[in-house]
Amino acid sequence: MNLEGDGMNEFLFVVYPYLSLTLLVVGTLARYNYDQIGWTSKSSELLEKRLLRVGSLLFHWGIIFVFFGHVAGLLIPISVYQALGISEHLYHLGAMAMGGLTGLMTLAGLGILLLRRLGVRRVMRNTAPADWAALGFLIATVAMGLLMTLGYNVTHLPYEYRTTVGPWIRGVLLLHPDAGLMAGVPLVLKIHILTAFGLFAISPFTRLVHIWSLPLAYLRRAPMQYRRRGVVSPVGDAGRDGSD
Ligand code: HEM
Repeated sequence: MNLEGDGMNEFLFVVYPYLSLTLLVVGTLARYNYDQIGWTSKSSELLEKRLLRVGSLLFHWGIIFVFFGHVAGLLIPISVYQALGISEHLYHLGAMAMGGLTGLMTLAGLGILLLRRLGVRRVMRNTAPADWAALGFLIATVAMGLLMTLGYNVTHLPYEYRTTVGPWIRGVLLLHPDAGLMAGVPLVLKIHILTAFGLFAISPFTRLVHIWSLPLAYLRRAPMQYRRRGVVSPVGDAGRDGSD
């Protein structure tokens, strides 16, 4: 498929992103309104615990750092780095080291979660097509991002996305996108961005909706006290059953 022509470029980097973001917003609101019971990460912890713990920890910590890396690289204009005296060389060195490490962590987590779904029969049987789609889009997006950071940038010169992809994505968010900025972007990075928008589009119909249920209320909630069973409480011995 030719991703290069002007018409195609306009479609892929203006029409498609807004279609995807519309689906993300409308789909998420609709699901929230009509499917409160299904609004969950559909935990499979009861089916298998050990691999889930390792894979999920690696994936979630990795993706949180990758998210903040994207904010730093795409939403903060290059002029801010220049004003702070951070050279292009130093920026890319840091971005490749941090991005590479946290990207690998994310991919390793996804790899473990994929093997768990394929290898543990009970988990496999409880995997719906939407779960495969979410995992597939996640793996494709993360793998292409990493291929750019640790592949393209190492075999070529580090690509300066802060003057192309950065202003383009800020334009998308501010409703004045300029697809021309994306015309010369390396193919690997274009595919990364296209799969990312695919991921956004399907996410309302998958377990990924749990992203919007960050338990922030915990931060404001009154503290709860847990006591070990068998410890005599100041109000008496009720509830003591002799076991520990
Ligand atoms: C519109 C959305 C996105 C844009 C514009 C974008 C853009 C980028 C850019 C410019 C890079 C750096 C490439 C380089 O080092 O030269 C990158 C890397 C990466 N992206 Fe994305 N990305 C997007 C969404 C996502 C999503 C949703 C994920 C994860 C599911 C993701 C995961 C990664 C990873 C793992 C890397 C490699 C590590 C790193 O440099 O942070 N990206 N992305």
